[in-house]
Amino acid sequence: MKIILASNNKNKIREVKEILDDINVDILSMKEAGIDIDIEENGSTFEENALIKAREVMKLTKCITMADDSGLEIDYLHKEPGVYSARFMGHDTPYDIKNKALIDRLQGVEGKDRSARFVAAIAVVFPNGKEIVTRGTMEGTIAYKPCGTNGFGYDPILFLPEYNKCSAELSSDEKNKISHRGKALRAMKSRLLMIEEK
Ligand code: IMP
Repeated sequence: MKIILASNNKNKIREVKEILDDINVDILSMKEAGIDIDIEENGSTFEENALIKAREVMKLTKCITMADDSGLEIDYLHKEPGVYSARFMGHDTPYDIKNKALIDRLQGVEGKDRSARFVAAIAVVFPNGKEIVTRGTMEGTIAYKPCGTNGFGYDPILFLPEYNKCSAELSSDEKNKISHRGKALRAMKSRLLMIEEK
């Protein structure tokens, strides 16, 4: 099975290839598929955005296409920044500023009320119209101050009580085992395997 990944992000491509390594699929990036488009992510959920991207690229390539969307949900902030995670305070604003702004908005909020999670949705769209969507989460709370230098984005402010560490204090191997994207991808892998077996 050949699958186009609707992304040119090298880290995402590597992670998808690693997780789907033991099943019979060839993953091609958009670049490898000769596609160069910017897709507007105007859905209101991670699932909708992943589907929008996968459908658009499938229409152009007529091949099975996979896309993802992810972000940080903070319960106290009504699940902000959510689908706007990358765009929150502007694409080019450094994450240390975005992270500090979110911590500041939780001033006076304690314990479990600081609950938050990373969410990832993965969509696979087939030329025959079949669509599969899976979701994975990584649950935590918003830290009182940023911790750790690994990872990217909001990793320094998602505290993981189970590990007594922020996500940015995990090695990439540790994080991949428990990450939202890893969980959503492994769920997708099971669904693809069921199709292959039919
Ligand atoms: P996407 O590439 O459109 O899915 O945007 C995801 C955005 O959500 C990123 O730019 C980050 O701001 C945030 N995000 C998603 N996953 C993670 C993660 O594992 N660590 C830190 N931030 C993340």
